[in-house]
Amino acid sequence: LDNGLARKPPMGWMSWGYFMCGVDCETHPRKCLKQKLILSVADTFYNEGYQEAGFEYIIIDDCWSEKQRDRNGRLVPDKKRFPKGMKYIADYIHSRGLKFGMYTNVAEITCMHYPGSKGHFSTDAKMFADWGVDYIKVDGCFVGEAFLNKAYIKFGQHLNASGRPMVYSCSWPYYIEFIHHKTPDYKTISRHCNMWRNYHDVVTSWQAIKTIITHYKSAYDQLSGHHGPGQWNDMDMLIFGTGSLTDSQSRVHLAVYSMLAAPLLLSCDTSRITKYEKELLLNLELLAIAQDPLGIMGRPFELETSITLWVKSHLPRKGDKYHSVSFALINLEEHASSVTFTPGLYGLNSTDGYTVMDVFTREFIRNVTLNESILVTVPEEDVILYTLFPL
Ligand code: GLA
Repeated sequence: LDNGLARKPPMGWMSWGYFMCGVDCETHPRKCLKQKLILSVADTFYNEGYQEAGFEYIIIDDCWSEKQRDRNGRLVPDKKRFPKGMKYIADYIHSRGLKFGMYTNVAEITCMHYPGSKGHFSTDAKMFADWGVDYIKVDGCFVGEAFLNKAYIKFGQHLNASGRPMVYSCSWPYYIEFIHHKTPDYKTISRHCNMWRNYHDVVTSWQAIKTIITHYKSAYDQLSGHHGPGQWNDMDMLIFGTGSLTDSQSRVHLAVYSMLAAPLLLSCDTSRITKYEKELLLNLELLAIAQDPLGIMGRPFELETSITLWVKSHLPRKGDKYHSVSFALINLEEHASSVTFTPGLYGLNSTDGYTVMDVFTREFIRNVTLNESILVTVPEEDVILYTLFPL
């Protein structure tokens, strides 16, 4: 969607992946979706370096409202969990220089049976704008294919008419493909949405991450042409900070999402992000891959053995004539694997050669010419990630 927003894949935090419909705050105080939680994420981003690294949007997913609209047909934030209302939260987040996101569904109810926006598109779009919302995730549970195709366009028009710039995140193609078993029209979707979910919800397990990576590998041809500034395929949230991944699995998780230029949305109790996960999340060489201004979706190549090579070109650095290019060698198997590959075969142009940086150690490890090969061993469930800068 060419509305000037999401020129790079959005980064931030969203409640659903970990907190889900956390409304029973007495029994499960640590899984409670409430004002204090949202403000604490803003504080963490502000105080702990996440904001400087680019983490910006803080998004409240489903289960934020009362079960009924008010007398004037307006959605009402849950009075116990969001006692000061959403404008207050938006102001707090904005005072930190961060951005605020919310959630609705195009049907009469949300996926978790809270009031949805059907019949109220105009009122709701205006209300989100009044509250100071900067990002809106619009879900597509419980409606037919024809309605989805109309509703996402209509809702977008109401957002536009509200006059407030809001990143428009759609779940449209997911429902078309996996619920209604049709082929999504990505050309249309990418004209109307800034980002869109393609695949099933992430859950907090390594298996889920592997399945998602495998899906995007096989869907590359279908998706890559529609991916870029203002229009992003959304692989769903990161599962850092949930105790689900080993260090090497967390490297794979973030490396692939970065190579694909996917939105990077955390979903966790931020105090549980491990020291190592935080180091990855704040690795500016890795984020430079994820946030490259060209926004190219990395391309997968099957190599021998169990390794997939992902290749992604970047905007040339200031003063450079040629693109730098990142290479991620991913091994999802439970045994190490070695492979020789020739970077020069994957769209490199500088006949002077390249200098190779290991993105995780941030060290320059060698130079390569266009004809030279590199031998790498990728440990089990791990990744070797290099960025090659033209000499
Ligand atoms: C769907 C979405 C999730 C989340 C839930 C909320 O499953 O895909 O990301 O928003 O609904 O109910």
